[in-house]
Amino acid sequence: MTTASPAPAPSMRLRELVFGAACAAALRAAARLGVADALGDSPMSVEDLAAAVKTEPKPLRRLLRALSCYDVFTEEEDGRFAHTDMSRLLREDDPASLRSISLWCTEPWTWDAWPRLEEAVRTGRNVVEGLYGKEFFDYLHEDAPESADVFNRAMTTSSKQSARDVAQLLDLSGSSSVADIGGGQGHVVASLLEKYPSMRGTLFDLPRVVENADPRLREGGALADRVRIVPGDCRVAIPVRADAYIIKNILEWDDDSTARTLRNVIAAGGPGTRVVVIENLVDDTASMRFSTAMDLLLLLNVGGAKHTTKSMVDRLTGAGLVIDTIRPVNPYLHAFDCTVPA
Ligand SMILES: C[S@@+](CC[C@H](N)C(=O)[O-])C[C@H]1O[C@@H](n2cnc3c(N)ncnc32)[C@H](O)[C@@H]1O
Repeated sequence: MTTASPAPAPSMRLRELVFGAACAAALRAAARLGVADALGDSPMSVEDLAAAVKTEPKPLRRLLRALSCYDVFTEEEDGRFAHTDMSRLLREDDPASLRSISLWCTEPWTWDAWPRLEEAVRTGRNVVEGLYGKEFFDYLHEDAPESADVFNRAMTTSSKQSARDVAQLLDLSGSSSVADIGGGQGHVVASLLEKYPSMRGTLFDLPRVVENADPRLREGGALADRVRIVPGDCRVAIPVRADAYIIKNILEWDDDSTARTLRNVIAAGGPGTRVVVIENLVDDTASMRFSTAMDLLLLLNVGGAKHTTKSMVDRLTGAGLVIDTIRPVNPYLHAFDCTVPA
C-alpha cells in the first residue's frame, strides 16, 4: 500500500515541492488516459484497468502509485486501486468534475511557459509573445485549437459551478436587460435569464467562443428568443446596450486591456448603468495556493494578475465607476457592484 509520510521534514518537503511538475504531469496523464472514468465503484486490478484504458500495466501501476501519495486514487492491501474523493473529480461524468480544469492547467503551452517564469518576474511581462510571436488568445485560437477547446470546456465547468452562485447573489429585479462581457459560453447569462423570466440578455465574447454558446442560448434553445449573441473584442468596442453588465474573470490581464474594457462598458451603458465585476482575489480567499498559482500563470500567458481588493478598487474607480458594494459570491469569488455616475 502507498502511504505518504504524515509530516515530512523541511528538507524532504522541499524535495517534494521541486518535483511539483511530476505531480501535475501524473494528473494530466491520468485525466487524458481516462483512468478515473474506467474505474467504477469497486476496486480494480491494475491489469484490468490497463486493459480498459489501453496502457501497459506496469507503468500504469507506477502512475497510480505516484498519484495515491497525493490521495488521488488509493491502493488497497491486495494491490487493487480504488477511488478517493479527489480521483472521482477526474471523472468526466462527476457532477463537480475537474477533468477539463486539470487538463487546462497542464496544457502543452504551460510546459513551454513555466521555465520562463524567472524572465516574467524580471520583466513583469508575459512570455507567450516571446514564445509564439503573438498574444495568448490569438495563439490559442489560431495555433492551438485543441487547447482552445480544452479552455472552453474548463471555463464551462467553472462557469456552470459559479453561475448558480452568481444568479443567487445578484438581485437584478430593477433591470430589464443584462449583458455578460467576455461571458464565455453563456452560463451566467443563461442562469440570470432563467431566474428573471422577462429579462433580455446579451452574450459578448470572441467569435470562436460564442460559436459554441450554451445550447439554451442558441437557435431553438429555451432562452434563444430573449438572447442576443454578439461576437467581438471588448478592448476595441462593446456594441451592446443593457441596464446591467457582468464582467466575470476578465479583468485579469494587462492594465491597458482592463482600462480599455471598462472604458468601453461605460461608453456602451452610459450614466446610471450597473456594472458588476466578479473576480478571485489573492488577498481574501480560502484557497491561497490555488489563487497564487493562477496569478503566476496569468503573468506568463497574458501579462495579467489576480487582483487584491485594493488593486481591483483602484482599477474600477480609476475608470470612473462608483463602487456600491463588495460582497463574496462564494468561497473563491467576490462581486464588485458598481454604477456609472452621471
Ligand atoms: C477566464 S474566461 C471567463 C469566462 C466567463 N466570464 C466566466 O467567468 O466563466 C475569460 C473569457 O474572456 C474572453 N476574452 C478574452 N479576450 C477577450 C476579448 N478581447 N474580448 C472579449 N472576450 C475576451 C475569453 O474568450 C474567455 O471566455
